[in-house]
Amino acid sequence: MAYCSAIIGYGGMGGWHHENIAARVPEIRVKGAWDIRPEMLEKAEEKGLYPYKSLEELLNDRELDLVTIAVPNNFHKELAIACLEHGKNVVCEKPVTLNAAELTEIIAVAEKTGRLFAVHQNRRWDKDFRIVKTILEQNTIGKPYYIESRVQGSRRAMHGWRSYKVNGGGMVYDWGVHLFDQLLWVLPGRVTQVYAQLFQVFSDEVDDNFKAMLRMEDGTSVLVEIATNCFINQPRWHVCCTDGTAVVEDWQCNGKIVRLNTDEEMGWDDEIVYTEAGPTRTMAPRPVQTTEVLPLPQVESDWSDYYKNIVGVLNGTAELIVKPEQSLRVMRLIDCVFESAREGRSIVCNI
Ligand SMILES: NC(=O)c1ccc[n+]([C@@H]2O[C@H](COP(=O)([O-])OP(=O)(O)OC[C@H]3O[C@@H](n4cnc5c(N)ncnc54)[C@H](O)[C@@H]3O)[C@@H](O)[C@H]2O)c1
Repeated sequence: MAYCSAIIGYGGMGGWHHENIAARVPEIRVKGAWDIRPEMLEKAEEKGLYPYKSLEELLNDRELDLVTIAVPNNFHKELAIACLEHGKNVVCEKPVTLNAAELTEIIAVAEKTGRLFAVHQNRRWDKDFRIVKTILEQNTIGKPYYIESRVQGSRRAMHGWRSYKVNGGGMVYDWGVHLFDQLLWVLPGRVTQVYAQLFQVFSDEVDDNFKAMLRMEDGTSVLVEIATNCFINQPRWHVCCTDGTAVVEDWQCNGKIVRLNTDEEMGWDDEIVYTEAGPTRTMAPRPVQTTEVLPLPQVESDWSDYYKNIVGVLNGTAELIVKPEQSLRVMRLIDCVFESAREGRSIVCNI
């Protein structure tokens, strides 16, 4: 059965949803779009969509099974609730809301109406992330104890409304939410501590760079960093486990694994490095024969599985992958990130 959908907000991401659903998800027919800017409605019409004359017209369109919300972040809550109350199933862009309390309100309405509500955490389908997920799940290099997950750019400016506080701008909401969602999905246990520093290097209103440290209940630590003013990038992922290290350099998934291949204790006798100001044994290079270099695992990942999952849930044949309660954990974590930065201390939590 084909489901009929509409898009609210036909900007960059709204257009992307349309194009990609049309090309890759035959089970969904995108019928129309609503946008507060007339020129975007014209664009939607040019692309073959029905341009709704108002939000009310869209909400009252009984043909619609599904609505995708792709407007600036501060409008997500009111639109999601309106759609759910009009009996629509909803896919909402990230960050789903500006805080956990707002999302709790949406979830209550979804439960009351019995409609599907899912957040578009599309970066769960990123290959670089799937590689790390595979390494951890296959226990390739033992137990993780420290992971760095970064996205670094150098364009300084943030696009459009992203530099305004009222719209829920800033990099914690824009990119942090993806990286937090990935990590909470893949790491077991709860987050017990959060420490964050936000930077406003060029932005007047919102964070344009940030670093956040998370501590998980099993002792694993995670550094999440987003930069918009970094001119020499560090790896996208640096994964430290008990028996080796994995690096994924970039979105093209260059990188490698170096794994310990012996249980033997190292001898220390001749291993000494003299730096100009002194000797060290601890930091002397490990003998090469005690490690092996492995390629990163090959993974298959297809973003269209996101909407195929939505279709499966609507058909009653699949379990939702991006669950509202998972998104609620992410929003609670983001609440702690802002609280930590505001108060200049680490926040003890149970997320
Ligand atoms: N998941 C991803 O990979 C990804 C990537 C980019 C953006 N996004 C998210 O998508 C959403 C939109 O971002 P964008 O980059 O497309 O922004 P955009 O500015 O390109 O487009 C937003 C559109 O929404 C319209 N709009 C604004 N307020 C509206 C309202 N109240 N009702 C109807 N239309 C309204 C604007 O006129 C504009 O056309 C944001 O939540 C953003 O975080 C997600």
